Amino acid sequence: MAPSQKSVAETPAWQALAKHFEQVRGIHLRELFAADNTRGERMTAEAAGLYFDYSKHRVTDETMKLLLALAEARGLRERIDAMFRGDKINATEKRAVLHTALRAPRGASVVVDGQNVVPEVHATLDRMAEFSRRVRDGEWKGHTGRRIRAVINIGIGGSDLGPVMAYEALHHYSMRDLTVRFVSNVDGTDFAEATRDLDAAETLFIISSKTFTTLETMTNAHSARDWSVRALGDEKAVARHFVAVSTNAAEVVKFGIDTANMFGFWDWVGGRYSMDSAIGLSTMIAIGPENFTAMLEGFRALDEHFRAAPFERNLPVLMGLLAVWYNNFFGAETVAVLPYEQYLKRFPAYLQQLTMESNGKHVTLDGAVVNYQTGPIFWGEPGTNGQHSFYQMIHQGTKLIPCDFIAFDEPLNPLGRHHDLLIANVIAQGEALAFGKTAEQVKAEGAPDWLAPHRTFEGNRPSTTIMARRLSPATLGALVALYEHSVFTQGSIWGVNSFDQWGVELGKALAQKIIPELEAANEPALNHDSSTAALIRRYRKARRKA
Ligand code: F6P
Repeated sequence: MAPSQKSVAETPAWQALAKHFEQVRGIHLRELFAADNTRGERMTAEAAGLYFDYSKHRVTDETMKLLLALAEARGLRERIDAMFRGDKINATEKRAVLHTALRAPRGASVVVDGQNVVPEVHATLDRMAEFSRRVRDGEWKGHTGRRIRAVINIGIGGSDLGPVMAYEALHHYSMRDLTVRFVSNVDGTDFAEATRDLDAAETLFIISSKTFTTLETMTNAHSARDWSVRALGDEKAVARHFVAVSTNAAEVVKFGIDTANMFGFWDWVGGRYSMDSAIGLSTMIAIGPENFTAMLEGFRALDEHFRAAPFERNLPVLMGLLAVWYNNFFGAETVAVLPYEQYLKRFPAYLQQLTMESNGKHVTLDGAVVNYQTGPIFWGEPGTNGQHSFYQMIHQGTKLIPCDFIAFDEPLNPLGRHHDLLIANVIAQGEALAFGKTAEQVKAEGAPDWLAPHRTFEGNRPSTTIMARRLSPATLGALVALYEHSVFTQGSIWGVNSFDQWGVELGKALAQKIIPELEAANEPALNHDSSTAALIRRYRKARRKA
């Protein structure tokens, strides 16, 4: 079923939550924990190696019951089935949404437009594996016969953030004598800095773009081609130094890359859901096909859990419902994602596209303007760095900021007491946020009356703690799938299309209009507001001088 035509805010399930919110909004986590000493173990769930502690949320059993009832009322079960089945739930683009098919096992069947897509998925994975092996073994030679020592992925958005996040996250597993870099920004500095110390004879570019028309990527791709051809002195070098990942074979050929060196994917894979498609080629080259397969298995384990587990034990469903609870009832505007794992340093940036491009929508699937808040802002930094920066606001500021803490039992780089100290910090942060420190406690410690308010922590600040054994390819897959499906859960509650991104179009179109106005030899007639026109004139003047 498509989400009900009715605004979610007008449904009985929502109204029951609104009423319940008034009853529980003042309850402190201290009271909730004092009333039930099993809470810390009871309000947890586990799947695909992820331990999910949601006990430090401002919820009672009744809250969870009402949130789960909301999920049922919004047809979440049917929506999940429709997505996995390949129904065209991305209605505005008339597309199926099948990132889950990217990690379906060989032999599974997922039918889109009468065709089972799983064999194609595995055929592509096999080609990627073979290519990765050849690059890693030095069998794939550059134009001058030298082996490839540097791989640069050129892409942006979903064709960059997933690969760069996965590369950083799985760096521990990567081939260390291969340099892997990412160029995304149309700012020439990105390309210049990525290539300045590289030898073109040993550099392979992966041009990653679903459409193969994106301005930033195509501009960087052309600069890369000029850089290679200039250094190697031969147009033919392109064949050994460029491969493409795209759904658009015609544009790939137009660019000059042979389709034999192209890895495809499909319109039913959204850009921000594509890191486990051929878009992950740079990841596979870096970590090897076996590790990539293990990552897919992690994704799949969480997919199966999302599809089959009862909602009350279903991690993405719980996570998504809690996000709705804070976003729509407490009025929280943001979610902080705080990985206590240095390798996950780009995870928050990756999640920003996944969550905000998916659920940053102001109309429902049937085009009605919403009368409630949709997707929150996601942000974050790895711990413990954030503790010495913005945590002050999370602890004592006026804004409610639910936090996702992510941590691992085992370090990938054991070093003295470092890991114990790291884990002590993440556990302490959740405790401090939830329970705070009362004015009485502060005074009992000897603080003078005038200082006590400054040193008081009101607590009652919610957090989830996600823990896993260690950051492995499989754990990363499970973690990403957890957020993907949480985003879907939230979008289903709000009734928005989490799989289109029309909001990026206007800026792109206006930039296309402004480019010739900046570059025209003669003063162009400007049909803009006075601010935009003045900025264009100012830049033209500066450009002439330069
Ligand atoms: O501008 C937004 C967007 O369309 C993203 O959704 C996408 O991930 C990115 O651009 C890159 O698109 P492409 O892979 O087609 O170059």
